[in-house]
Amino acid sequence: MEPRERHQDLCSLLTQYRWEYYVLDAPSVPDADFDRLMRELEAIERDHPEWVTPESPTQQVGPPADLSFTPVTHPSPMLSLDNAFSTDEVRAWHDRVVSLAGEAALADSGYMCEMKIDGLAVDLVYVDGVLTRAATRGDGRVGEDVTANVRTIGCIPYRLTGAGPGLLEVRGEVFLPLAGFAELNEALEEDGKKPFANPRNAAAGSLRLKDPKVTAARPLAFLCHGIGLTETPLASLSEAYERLSAWGLPTSDRATKLGTLAEVMAYIDALGEARYGLTHEIDGAVAKVDDVGLQRGLGATVRAPRWAIAYKFPPVEVTTTLLDIRVGVGRTGRVTPYAVMTPVKVAGSTVEQATLHNASEVRRKGVLIGDTVILRKAGDVIPEVLGPVLEARTGSERAFEMPVTCPECGAELGPEKVGDADLRCPNTRSCPAQLRERLIHLGSRTGLDIEGLGEKAVDAILAEHLVTDEGDIFGLTAAGLIRCPLFQRDEKGERALSKIGEKLLDQLEAAKTKPFDRYLVALSIRHIGKGVAPVIAARYPTIEELAAASEADLSQIEGVGPTLAAAVTDWFTVDWHAQIVGKWRAAGAMSPATVAETLPPTLAGLTVVVTGTVPGYSRDGATEAVVARGGKATGSVSKSTSVVVAGEGAGSKLVKAQSLGVPVIDATQFAQFLERGLDGLARPEMS
Ligand code: IVH
Repeated sequence: MEPRERHQDLCSLLTQYRWEYYVLDAPSVPDADFDRLMRELEAIERDHPEWVTPESPTQQVGPPADLSFTPVTHPSPMLSLDNAFSTDEVRAWHDRVVSLAGEAALADSGYMCEMKIDGLAVDLVYVDGVLTRAATRGDGRVGEDVTANVRTIGCIPYRLTGAGPGLLEVRGEVFLPLAGFAELNEALEEDGKKPFANPRNAAAGSLRLKDPKVTAARPLAFLCHGIGLTETPLASLSEAYERLSAWGLPTSDRATKLGTLAEVMAYIDALGEARYGLTHEIDGAVAKVDDVGLQRGLGATVRAPRWAIAYKFPPVEVTTTLLDIRVGVGRTGRVTPYAVMTPVKVAGSTVEQATLHNASEVRRKGVLIGDTVILRKAGDVIPEVLGPVLEARTGSERAFEMPVTCPECGAELGPEKVGDADLRCPNTRSCPAQLRERLIHLGSRTGLDIEGLGEKAVDAILAEHLVTDEGDIFGLTAAGLIRCPLFQRDEKGERALSKIGEKLLDQLEAAKTKPFDRYLVALSIRHIGKGVAPVIAARYPTIEELAAASEADLSQIEGVGPTLAAAVTDWFTVDWHAQIVGKWRAAGAMSPATVAETLPPTLAGLTVVVTGTVPGYSRDGATEAVVARGGKATGSVSKSTSVVVAGEGAGSKLVKAQSLGVPVIDATQFAQFLERGLDGLARPEMS
C-alpha cells in the first residue's frame, strides 16, 4: 500500500478505535494492537510531516469531552505519557534526558518510579483546602465536570487535613479494584444487566453516571500521580507526594524514589513480577524525573512531558489461533459452544478454552474456525474471545455451525421457549452428559456432599451402566461397583471392592439422613440452589408437602419468585422425577423421619451479607447458618441489604456497606444475631 493511502487508513482506523475506547468504553482491539498501529502512523508522519493535521490521532490527547457533562478548562493542561515497549526504549528515553539535562543534574534529581494504574485520570481542584471541582482529562485542555460523582469516592477527602494551600490542583487515577469489579459485575448480572468488560471501563462508566447515588455504590478508588497548579512551591515530585499524603490524599506505597537507571530497570522488573498479585490492574510502570526545576527545563511536547516515560507491560490481551469450536452439554441440557485455542499465556495463566455462550454470540463476535482471535482476560479469571483479527484471514477459515442434534445422545436440539438464544438437549433423563452433570452435582458440597461421588466415580458408574438416572444412586451395591476398574482391587486372585468403593457405599449410606434442603438441591430442580433450598424446606419440610404445593402457595415464600415456583411445580409433573422420589424413599433416603429439626426463623425478612472470616464458621457455614434461620444470604451489598456481618479481612463489601449506610455488625456479634435477630443486638452501628 502507498504510504499516503496507509496514512489515511490508519487515521480513520485509529479515530474509530479511540472513539470506541474513550466514548463507548468498549474497545474492539487490544491495547497492544492500538499501540502498534499508532507507532506505524507516527513513523509515517515522521517521514511526511506535511501530512500531519490537527485531527490526526497522533495529535489527540484523550477523548473529545463528552458534552453531557459541563465542559471545564483545566487550570493547567493535563498531558499524557510517552510509551516505551521495551527496556531499550526506556534506555533511549534516559539517554535523551541525559543529553538535554546533563548527567550531573539528573543524578542529583533521581527518579520517581510508580505503577501505571489502568484507570482514568481526573483533575481535582482544592480551594482553601476544600474540593471544589473534579474533572476528567478530556482532551487534556477541556474535560468534563464530574465533581458530584468524585465526591462519592471514599478515599478522596472533601477537606484537606491541616492548613492546605489556597489553591491545589492534584491529578491522579480513579480505578476500580479487582474485588470491587468482580462484585459489581456479579450484581449487574444478577439484575440481568450487561457486565463491564474490564475494570477500566467499569471505572469510566461509573464516573459518567447521571446519578451520584449509583456511583457511590461503586467501590471506586483513587491514587495521586501528579500536581498541576499550586500556590505552595514544591521542589520535587517526592516532596509533593509527602505533602499530598499529609493533607490526607491517597498516594501509593509503591511509588519509590530511585537514583540510577539500573534501579529504574529493576523496579520495572519487580513490578512486572508483582503485577498479578495486586488488588487492581496496572498496565505498566512510570519513571519520572523527580526534580521539578529539571522537569520544567525539559518541558513537554504537545502530547507528553519529556521528563517522564511509561513502560507498558506486555498486553493482557493476546492473540492466538481458534483451532475449533466445540459444544458442551450442561446439567440442564444447555448446549454451549466453546472455543478451543492454541494454548496461550494471558494474565499469569495458560488458556486454551473459553466459552462462547451460544450460537448468536458466535455470530456476533464474527469468529471463524482457523481465525487468529483476540483473547482477553480482564480482572476476572474468566477468559473471553473478543473477536477475529480480520487482517490475518487467509481464506481457509470456516464458519461454525451449531449442531442440530445433541453431540452426546443424538436427540434433536431446540430452544426451551420461543425466542430463547440457548439451545437445549430435550433428553433430560438419559442424555449421558446431563446425567453425568446431575450426578456430580448431587455429590457436590452443596448437594448431598458425597466426597466419593466425584467426576471419576460418576464416569466409572456411567461406563458400566450401573444407573439409568439418579433414582438408582442409593441402589448401588458392592457387586455392581466391583464391575468398574476404579472400584476393584485384587484379593488373592479374586476381585474385591476397593477402599474407595467401600468409602462410596459408606458415604451413600450416611447421605440418606442429610436434611431435606440438601435433597432439594441434589434433585437438580431448576433455580433451586443452596440459598433458597433451606427457605423452601422450612415451609415444606417433606417432599410430599412440597409436591402438593401450588405455584401460588410457593410464591408466598419470601425469596421465591414466579419462575422458581413454576419450576418446582413443573418438576413434579414429570413421571421419571416421581420415580426418583419413589426409589430414594424405597432405599431409605429422604425420609420424613430424618428431616433435620427446623430452627426458629429469627432472621426472617432480613437480607444478610457475610464478608471476611467469622470465627467458628467456614465461609459456607456462616451463610448456611443465616439461611437456616430464615434469612436470605447474598454475596453482594446493595441498598436492599439489611445487615452486613464483617469478619476479619472484610474488604470492599464493608466499604460499600458503609458508603450505602447499611448497618454493619462485627463477627463477635454473629452468634447473638443468629439467636435473636436484630433485636438481640445493641443498635447496629450505622456508618
Ligand atoms: S502521570 C504529565 N502517572 O496514564 C504526566 N499517569 O498514558 C501525566 N496513569 O493520563 C500522567 N498511572 O491517566 C501518570 N503513575 C502514573 C499513572 C498515570 C496511570 C495514566 C493517566 C495518564 C495516562 C497516560
